[in-house]
Amino acid sequence: MVFQTSCLRVRKVFSLWNQLGKQQVPELNRAGVIIRDATHVHQLIHTLQSGGANTLQVVSDFDMTLSKFSHNGQRCPTTHNLLHSSCLITEECKHKMRALQERFYPVEIDTAMSLEEKIPLMVEWWSDAHDLLVQQEIQRKLLANAVSQSEAKLRDGYALFFSTLERCGVPLLIFSAGVGDIVEEILKHHHLLTHTVSIQANYMTFNKEGVLEGFVEPLIHSFNKGAGHCLSPAHISRSHDRPYVLLLGDSLGDVSMANQLPGVQKVLKIGYLNDQVEARRPAYVSTYDIVLERDETLDVPNAILRHISMATHL
Ligand code: C5P
Ligand code: MG
Repeated sequence: MVFQTSCLRVRKVFSLWNQLGKQQVPELNRAGVIIRDATHVHQLIHTLQSGGANTLQVVSDFDMTLSKFSHNGQRCPTTHNLLHSSCLITEECKHKMRALQERFYPVEIDTAMSLEEKIPLMVEWWSDAHDLLVQQEIQRKLLANAVSQSEAKLRDGYALFFSTLERCGVPLLIFSAGVGDIVEEILKHHHLLTHTVSIQANYMTFNKEGVLEGFVEPLIHSFNKGAGHCLSPAHISRSHDRPYVLLLGDSLGDVSMANQLPGVQKVLKIGYLNDQVEARRPAYVSTYDIVLERDETLDVPNAILRHISMATHL
């Protein structure tokens, strides 16, 4: 009897939380937002909100998470294939890069394959693509122009996302298996590279003449973000006393991006499900706390940040 009454009370509190959470973050009611365990999510949001902006850090993937997957029905480029629309690489190189993508991208997004099967193939994809780029003798000074002329697009709402983080002093770690120099140029192009942003990615190395000669090791690919990287010291010093993480990703490997961060207690994981939505839905719903299907905006992360920052009156 006592047990039943307390169960009832717990259920009432949880349902109240659900209602409150949905009212406070109404964007969570949108079509295309899937939440496996609403109680868990609202508890997490409540924890993040109680801690306030001073206890929060954001860790986000770049390609197809901060950048768009598609725009007006057209696929948008990743940082690796953004150079396809530039004159920095030859037609032959573009052709070879596309062939690599056609071979390995289906592997990357295959939810039936094991990580043991995928990882060597991912290393092969990234290594072959980097070798091809190195053969092109790309000049560092031409990257900014190639980026500004590219079709790369950030998700709608990006300006609010970056300005909220800056206003509230919340550090952002962009953890990307893309090309770091290109991520940096895209952010610079939009005036978003502020003192609270750190980038962990595959950076190019250049010789004395400013010509591409290699990539910094160890390689980051979609499925090794959780271990083996020396994380940005700037981000560690800005975030060591921030136990709560808002994590944004689009690959199933992105959920591990906060694994190496010291002192993390709670992670609210938001996953963008961009491609092969129906087939991959079960895997995304069991991996991420909140799944956003075919959503080219940052509206949901922005709404959660608004909720947290309003609560701390920042
Ligand atoms: O920023 P993010 O970690 O998402 O960047 C990695 C993405 O770049 C992968 O999801 C992959 O699809 C893409 N990629 C690419 N060309 C390569 C290697 C990876 O477009 N050669
Ligand atoms: Mg990505």
